[in-house]
Amino acid sequence: MRGLIEPHGGSLVNRVKTGADAEALRDEASTLRRIDLSAKQSCDLEMIAIGAFSPLTGFMGSADFKSVCNDMKLSSGDIWPIPILLSVDAADAPKVGERVALFAPNGVLQGVITVEETFDHDKALEIPSVFRTDDSAHPGVAQVQEEGDICVAGPVDVCQMCVDPDGPEAFLSHRKTPAETRTDFQERGWSTVAAFQTRNPIHRAHEYLCKCAQEICDGLLIHPLVGETKPGDIPADVRMNCYEVLIRDYFVDERTALTVMPAAMRYAGPREAILHALIRKNYGCTHFIVGRDHAGVGDYYGTYDAQNIFDELDPVNLAIEPLKFEHAAYSKRAQGMVSSKTFPKLEGDQIFLSGTKVREMLGKGERPPAEFSRPEVADVLIEWATSLETANA
Ligand code: ADX
Repeated sequence: MRGLIEPHGGSLVNRVKTGADAEALRDEASTLRRIDLSAKQSCDLEMIAIGAFSPLTGFMGSADFKSVCNDMKLSSGDIWPIPILLSVDAADAPKVGERVALFAPNGVLQGVITVEETFDHDKALEIPSVFRTDDSAHPGVAQVQEEGDICVAGPVDVCQMCVDPDGPEAFLSHRKTPAETRTDFQERGWSTVAAFQTRNPIHRAHEYLCKCAQEICDGLLIHPLVGETKPGDIPADVRMNCYEVLIRDYFVDERTALTVMPAAMRYAGPREAILHALIRKNYGCTHFIVGRDHAGVGDYYGTYDAQNIFDELDPVNLAIEPLKFEHAAYSKRAQGMVSSKTFPKLEGDQIFLSGTKVREMLGKGERPPAEFSRPEVADVLIEWATSLETANA
């Protein structure tokens, strides 16, 4: 059997303190000044701590920030597409050398940072390079615009991995660190694993991509993002119910894994597709599914921009292989999922439905059609939409 893919940068980072070390960190934190993290920063902190952002051991310094914005690389030369920053208001900026306690938005102590550097948050550099737009109607752009003006950089130690273990987005039975998914893949005898990133309930086109990938790889990791998403996206707990019924009835257990990915969405399209791929490399996946308008929002990115950007990267350093898929849709003639690569275009034959359209249908109490959603998934969605209507009545 082929060995597992190496983590990005060569070794898996682990900044999680447990047992007596976690207690000591909590004791120390009670004596330190605090920074209250945003939801995105709290997600990033968890991603760093569990090694999902390897080789990052903390929030980025200015050299990495500039190099990431300008060249999509860390100063080490490793590919990295999006700055991972801890920015605060100037009035709250700590001193270099200080250790500062980091609190999640719900008030839970998450960890401590050792401040190695503070620097100006160059939003005029970050926003257009990462998002390819500076339009504040873009949710990722708006978020950066609202962030603090000083970035605090340095390694972190974390004493609380899942900030709210009782919260609706804890999914404890589906929470696995990169080290744990790697062990799982090895135990299952998988040497090639395709990862599927999603922030939506799995519809028929998603399922088609996953099944094609399963024909190529030993296993499939369905890896929904459950960190912060924009208002209007379907909540992660509802999506998890959809994934579970779908896997139960339409996937082969021995070939399918479902675990959650606690990152925040940035909606940065092409650059976020690279970040999503590197994260999955750290989780031990060898292949990464990139379909149409991956991680996009509105009309900011071309349909295949998030695929084309991979051609600019050094494939050796990237190591994980992008599996690029054309826009897939249901064909009435073929009575199944097709793409322009597999079936001729016939007038009025294909049913293209987007996640946005389905959310609109659900909002009107309409059931997504079988050509778009498996009935079991549609049941979960309609039940959720009905419960919302009742709550709002
Ligand atoms: S994303 O923000 O996570 O990209 P979504 O959950 O909708 O959003 O997409 C998950 C993956 O499926 C992405 O790789 C996306 O490009 C792909 N995808 C979604 N819909 C289609 C489709 N109709 N045809 C091909 N790929 C698709």
